Amino acid sequence: MPAQRMDGRRLAALYREKVKEEVLELKTQGISPRLVVVLVGSDPASLTYVQNKVKAAQEGAIRSEVLRFPETVREEELLETIARLSADDDVDGVLVQLPLPQGLDKEKVIEQIAPEKDVDGFTYQNVGRVMLGQSRALYPCTPQGIIALLDAYRIPLLGEEAVVVGRSDIVGRPVAQLLLSRHATVTIAHSKTRHLGEITRRAQVLIVAAGVRELITGDMVKEGAVVIDVGIHRRADGTLTGDVEADSVREKARLLSPVPGGVGPMTIAMLLLNTVKAARLRRGLPFHAPTIMFAE
Ligand code: GUN
Repeated sequence: MPAQRMDGRRLAALYREKVKEEVLELKTQGISPRLVVVLVGSDPASLTYVQNKVKAAQEGAIRSEVLRFPETVREEELLETIARLSADDDVDGVLVQLPLPQGLDKEKVIEQIAPEKDVDGFTYQNVGRVMLGQSRALYPCTPQGIIALLDAYRIPLLGEEAVVVGRSDIVGRPVAQLLLSRHATVTIAHSKTRHLGEITRRAQVLIVAAGVRELITGDMVKEGAVVIDVGIHRRADGTLTGDVEADSVREKARLLSPVPGGVGPMTIAMLLLNTVKAARLRRGLPFHAPTIMFAE
C-alpha cells in the first residue's frame, strides 16, 4: 500500500488557529505580540519568504513588519538596529532572514539578537538550550515543525531508530537534538557518509534535510518507515520536488511528507508559536507547548 501523505498544510492551519486564539487571549491582558523581520538585500526568494512570514503573523493577529536594508548596509548600522530591537520592550520576536549578503558577518548579526526574542532559535543560547533539552529554549522552527508533524500522526519516538540525513545549523543538527530529547536512537548522516543506504535503511523515522535533489530513493528506505522530506527543489518544468524521490519511496514508506505541503507550512506555524512563547516567557508567564494530533 503506498505511503499515506502527511498533511503539513492542514496541521499548520490548526496550529495557526491555536496560536491566534492564544494571541487574542494575550490581548485581553494588554499584551499584543509583535514580530520584526529584518531583510538585507533583495534576493527574490528571501523577499517572498519574508513576506509570507509577515502575512502569516498578521493573519494570526500578531503585529508584524519587515525592516529592509540595502545590501550595501554597513554592518555597524545593522548591528545597531538589531540591538535597538532587542532592547525595545514593544518587540517580542526578532528574525534576521538568511542568507545575508556577502561581507556581513552572520555570526555577529545573529548574536546581536536577544536570546529571549530569537524566534528562529539561532543564537548560541537557544542552540545550547536545545542541546541540553531545556523546554524554555526557543526551538528552531523547521525542526520543531518536523516533531509536530510526527506527533500529529502519533509516531512513537521513544527507543526508535531515527536517522537524520543532513547536518545544517538550521535543520539537521537541531532536529537530531530534539529527537534525542524524545528518546529516539539518533544517527546523523550527511553528504560524506559512506554507504548511506545502509544507514538510512535502519531508520524507522527518516528525516532528510541534505539539500540534494531526490537523494533518497525507495531502495534506501525500510519497509514501513516514516519519511520526512525537508528539501525543496524546482524541476526544469517548474514543478517542485524534494530530497526524496517520492515515487519510489512512497512504495516502501508508511508515511511520507510531501513537497510542497509538508514541512514548509509547519515552519511558518512554528515561527508564530515561538513569537507567542517569547511574548509570554519574557514577561514571566508560563508557556505550555500545544500538541495537536489528528484523529486515528
Ligand atoms: N533562510 C532559510 N531558512 C531560514 C529560516 O528558517 N530562518 C531565517 N531567518 N532565514 C532562513
